[in-house]
Amino acid sequence: MMRPLAFSLLQDLSHEHFISGARLAEKYGVSRSAVSDALRDASDAGIGIFSLTRKGYRLAAPIELLDVNRIRAALGVTAKRVDVEVLASIDSTNSEMMRRAIAGAPGGMCLAAELQTAGRGRRGRSWHSALGASLTFSMLWRFDKGAAQLGGLSLVVGLAVLRALRALGAPGDAGLRNPDCIGLKWPNDIVVRGAKIAGVLIETQGDMLGPTTVVIGIGINVNLSDALKMNIDQPATDVSALCDRPPSRNRLLARLLQELVIVLDEFRQTGFRTFKAAWCDHHALHGKPVRVLFADGSAVEATVKDVADDGALIVLVKGKALHVTAGEVSLRPAIGKTKK
Ligand code: ATP
Ligand code: BTN
Repeated sequence: MMRPLAFSLLQDLSHEHFISGARLAEKYGVSRSAVSDALRDASDAGIGIFSLTRKGYRLAAPIELLDVNRIRAALGVTAKRVDVEVLASIDSTNSEMMRRAIAGAPGGMCLAAELQTAGRGRRGRSWHSALGASLTFSMLWRFDKGAAQLGGLSLVVGLAVLRALRALGAPGDAGLRNPDCIGLKWPNDIVVRGAKIAGVLIETQGDMLGPTTVVIGIGINVNLSDALKMNIDQPATDVSALCDRPPSRNRLLARLLQELVIVLDEFRQTGFRTFKAAWCDHHALHGKPVRVLFADGSAVEATVKDVADDGALIVLVKGKALHVTAGEVSLRPAIGKTKK
């Protein structure tokens, strides 16, 4: 668990020169041992910090913490539509956002966390992330419609993430090697050659007929350590493997929010229908043999045929078309990995 002091101290440290523990202690009005304990937390969280007795502390490599002012500056006109807050540490940005939504937070609110202590995927699965190495955030959006009419929302959000990642190839950005290798795995994953680079977790609250409060959670791997990748029980990759130069996390977050607002505005009007063609252009498992896993533990072998106008996946099982919705099933490629 990182104490708040650790986050402040990390912003003072440089990777170019040492700064003494005494100076840091004086700045924050704490003891030198409090400084040392807080930086040990950061070190335990995976941040490389050199410590020398008479010189103090130096970062092994530069780190870029999230900074609301930098995010806002990069947002351009979208800054009028979203209100970003950065949290040092939280259980899950989705959980916190839902708590705030219930307490009346407005649509357009975005919570990003440096550290999640209990990041979640679907159905109680965990989402792994590390300090400075991931982007984990949630956005609150309110719809007049009921949840039943929001089919395809996670697909549309995936498309926004894919567009933001592809935009890293734009001039002045990180220089993407091959944007065509980024794909979408129905219903909620962004993949690069079969390995997951980002995931989307959408949680809703409201009556059947609406209005509906939607928390859109996004986790992106930016620069995961090999140890963390090995800890994940399915193939994972990150943005730094995709780009020649690691992107600024602040700019990446701003770009993601810009793309999100664009798709959410359109989705509010039209639903998934108008996104279908664009989504299918990147459909990673299109035409592929898959294993469809149902919530009750049963499974069928099938071939992916299409995606319907409401975002359901259409698979062929023994030649017969079957529509499955995101709430009902998980999908695995039939060849290669078949876990869970
Ligand atoms: P589904 O098809 O149901 O979405 P899924 O395996 O992608 O299946 P999710 O709940 O979407 O399941 O995602 C959680 C899973 O993602 C975890 O069980 C783990 O296998 C994987 N995972 C967790 N953290 C990461 C990460 N940082 N990068 C890539 N994959 C991760
Ligand atoms: C998945 O692939 O299952 C979705 C993973 C979603 C992870 C993000 S990280 C930010 C937000 N907070 C969470 O606890 N989960 C989502």
